[in-house]
Amino acid sequence: MKVLGVLGSPRVGGNSDILLEQALAGAKDKGAAVEKIILCKKNISGCLDCAQCNEAGVCAIQDDMLGIHEKILEADCIIHSSPVYFWSMTSQMKAYLDRWCAFFDAEWQLHKTYQSRMQGKKIALITVCADPKVSTADPIVHSFKTTCEFSGLQWLGAVQASAGLKGEIAKNEIAMKEAYDLGKKGASL
Ligand SMILES: Cc1cc2nc3c(=O)[nH]c(=O)nc-3n(C[C@H](O)[C@H](O)[C@H](O)COP(=O)(O)O)c2cc1C
Repeated sequence: MKVLGVLGSPRVGGNSDILLEQALAGAKDKGAAVEKIILCKKNISGCLDCAQCNEAGVCAIQDDMLGIHEKILEADCIIHSSPVYFWSMTSQMKAYLDRWCAFFDAEWQLHKTYQSRMQGKKIALITVCADPKVSTADPIVHSFKTTCEFSGLQWLGAVQASAGLKGEIAKNEIAMKEAYDLGKKGASL
């Protein structure tokens, strides 16, 4: 099993990074090979809707997302982690998600080149918001969950936590355990 962690926060070592590390620790303890991608350290442009991928199955933009597409294809499970920025995901995470466009054809079906490698892939999400109401992150959950349902991926679930200051989430034992368990679930057959 390969579990890929994708960090959407630019605050490396911050709350969503801590929870993602917990999830990856859970996956590793279950025997998975784990890898983490820090999106803010990558060069990822927004989707241009040029439709070139519809034919070729390959994105026309020559940036770091091409390598990340490969890592997505290789992974059995992808765990995303993003803080809430203005009731939404971070711009880094949104640019990454929009570039998933390359996996689809003109009819928004999984591109035939990728169908067998994408179908049933497990997708999970971690969110952190400063608001004590963790439902503040519901729009991000909706975005990832609906993307999964729409494209035949397997929605694994979300951990939604609240913390503001950098690193504060480490004191939240429940969120830490939930993230660890999410990683274990992601690494299970
Ligand atoms: C630009 C920006 C926008 C934010 N918008 C929200 C928001 O709409 N709701 C909220 O509850 N917290 C908001 N926050 C707070 C972060 O979600 C919170 O501090 C979180 O713990 C950051 O996670 P990180 O340490 O993983 O970066 C915002 C923070 C920033 C920097």
